[in-house]
Amino acid sequence: GKVAVLLGGESTEREVSLNSGNAVYQALLSAGVDAHLFDTKEQSLFALKDLGFDRVFIVLHGGAGEDGRVQAVLETMGLPYTGCGVAASAIGMDKLRTKLIWKALDLPVPDFAVLQDDTDFAAVEARLGLPMFVKPSAEGSSVGVVKVSTTGQLPAVYQELKQYRGAVIAEAFIGGGEYTCAILGNEALPTIKIVPATEFYDYEAKYARDDTQYLCPSDLSAEDEALMRELSLQAFAAIDGRGWGRVDFLRGVDGQLYVLEANTVPGMTSHSLVPKAALQTGRSFSQLCVEILEHATL
Ligand code: DAL
Ligand code: MG
Repeated sequence: GKVAVLLGGESTEREVSLNSGNAVYQALLSAGVDAHLFDTKEQSLFALKDLGFDRVFIVLHGGAGEDGRVQAVLETMGLPYTGCGVAASAIGMDKLRTKLIWKALDLPVPDFAVLQDDTDFAAVEARLGLPMFVKPSAEGSSVGVVKVSTTGQLPAVYQELKQYRGAVIAEAFIGGGEYTCAILGNEALPTIKIVPATEFYDYEAKYARDDTQYLCPSDLSAEDEALMRELSLQAFAAIDGRGWGRVDFLRGVDGQLYVLEANTVPGMTSHSLVPKAALQTGRSFSQLCVEILEHATL
C-alpha cells in the first residue's frame, strides 16, 4: 500500500517536523516502502483517500498533528495511522493534564502550579522556590520555556507566555540530570542521559548546537535503569499511549526520579533521541521507522 508521511503543519515546531518527516520518508523509501511526503500546511487531509493512501505515518510535532485533531480526522476517514490515538495525543500535548493524571496515580512529578491572571505570584514563588521553570502547557521542543531565577520576575514571564495556546504552568527546579526513555510497541528502550552545554536542554541545544552530549547507555545504575523504563511504560499507559513515544525525566541530585512529560510524536531528526535509543538495541533508523509503521492502527 501507499504510505503518506505527514510532516510540516502549522505549529511552532514546523521546522523540526520538516526535518523529522524527511528523515522518516528517506528511511521508509530505503526499506522499500511506497512512501510519499504530505505537508498538511499545503494539502488537505481529506484528499488522502482520493490520492490512494491506505496508511499514514504521522511526523507532525505540536499543534493539530500531535494534539489529537489530525488523529481524529484520520479515525473518521478510516485510515490507520502510527502512534497515539485521539485521547492520548490530546492529553500528551497538554503538560498540565498529563501532570494531573500522573499525580493522581502517584507517579513522581515535580511540584507545579497553574498560572492565571488572578494568581498570587509571590505565593507561587514562595512555594516552588527559585529558580523555577515556567512553560506553556501545550508546546513542544522547549518552545516558550523560561528559567525564572529572579524574585518578582514571575508576573512578567506569565504575561509573555499567555500568548501561547493553553495554560501556563510553573514547575519546581529539580537540578540534577535530564533523561529520556523511548517506547516502541510495548517495549521501553534503553534510557538516554542528555548533557546540554547550555543551561538546560532548550530549542537551540536540541536542534542547532552540536555540543549537546547524549549518553546511551546512560549513567544510571542497573536498578535505576529498570525503574526509569518501568516508570516510562506506566506514564505512557496512564495517558493511554500506544505505538511509540518518549517520556522525559529529571533525576534530582538526591537520586530521586521525576517524570516530566510525554511526547507522542517524538523528534526523528538526525539529532533526535528515539533513533539513538533504537540503535542501542540494534535497530537501524530505517528498521525503527518500519517497526513504527507496522504498529499503525485505527
Ligand atoms: N517535541 C519534540 C519534537 C520532541 O519531543 O522530540
Ligand atoms: Mg514535549
